[in-house]
Amino acid sequence: MRLSRRTFLHLAAGTAACPVGSRLVFAQTYPSRPITIIVPFAAGGPSDVLARLLGERMRTVLNQPVIVENATGAGGTIGVTRAARAEADGYTVSFGHLGTHVINGAIYPLTFNLLDDLEPVGLIGGNPLLVVSKTAVPAKNLKELIAWIKANEENVTFGTAGVGSGSHFSGVYLQSLIGTKARYVPYRGTGPAMQDLVAGNVDIIIDQASNSMPQVQDGKIRAYAVTQNKRMTAAPDIPTVDEAGLPGFHIWLWSGMWVPKGTPQDVIAKLNSAMREALADPTVLKRFGDLGLEAMPANRQTPEALRAHQKAEADKWWPMIKAAGVKPAG
Ligand code: MLT
Repeated sequence: MRLSRRTFLHLAAGTAACPVGSRLVFAQTYPSRPITIIVPFAAGGPSDVLARLLGERMRTVLNQPVIVENATGAGGTIGVTRAARAEADGYTVSFGHLGTHVINGAIYPLTFNLLDDLEPVGLIGGNPLLVVSKTAVPAKNLKELIAWIKANEENVTFGTAGVGSGSHFSGVYLQSLIGTKARYVPYRGTGPAMQDLVAGNVDIIIDQASNSMPQVQDGKIRAYAVTQNKRMTAAPDIPTVDEAGLPGFHIWLWSGMWVPKGTPQDVIAKLNSAMREALADPTVLKRFGDLGLEAMPANRQTPEALRAHQKAEADKWWPMIKAAGVKPAG
């Protein structure tokens, strides 16, 4: 049995180890050193903000530093691939969402299987998307915005976090519904994309509500609709897509955490327990409420719930994405 360098050093240091199959499970208490959460989008975006919010609380539960590392590019695929290839020891966690851990499986020639090569840690929760524009767009409601997009087609720019990201595939979905084309401008996350929207350098983002809410409230961007059939408690003035004239344009962007396949079950259980404690923390839940985020009910924060949800979402979205012929260079 070939030992990895880390395994050999542990053995050389006399750390107790018991072979479990071909993988050594270290008896020492996990975690014994810092944990890295890989966020596959740029700092300051919704994924980054959510990961840091949870990571800070998980740090106190696990009593080890929880470091968020932004590994960006290719709609999140670069970061997820990094995590999937990491040592299966619980010290590298893959943070992602519907786009990175489902949609990208129908777009990119991945070097691993999204549904099999990552072990679910837990389903966190999520938020709907907001259709938002720079304030200079001459539309005062969703119907006028759609008319403006159709009248300007290729000159209209949608800011995205790259092909396959939530902000991208929702744009593909919108354009399939209204029968028009537009130009996508990829960023390393919707944090940088939002900066350009506020500056007026890009026209529209279909963005996670948690990312757009602060700018909408400050009047720096304009919101037209929320992609669900009930108004957000945090934003009661924003109509639903059904009220605004685009019934059924429903997307709820959920997020979760995963670890590489082969990570010991007791390690996954510890990570899930720390995630659940963070999701029960009043300070975390207050921040969720302010941003329009909803935590999953406790009974759906389990690894099994994430595995089932991820599979169901792949069954739902892959046929549409493949039929749309979305390509990585798109
Ligand atoms: C997305 O559009 O997939 C995400 O909102 C990107 C991000 O979290 O930065």
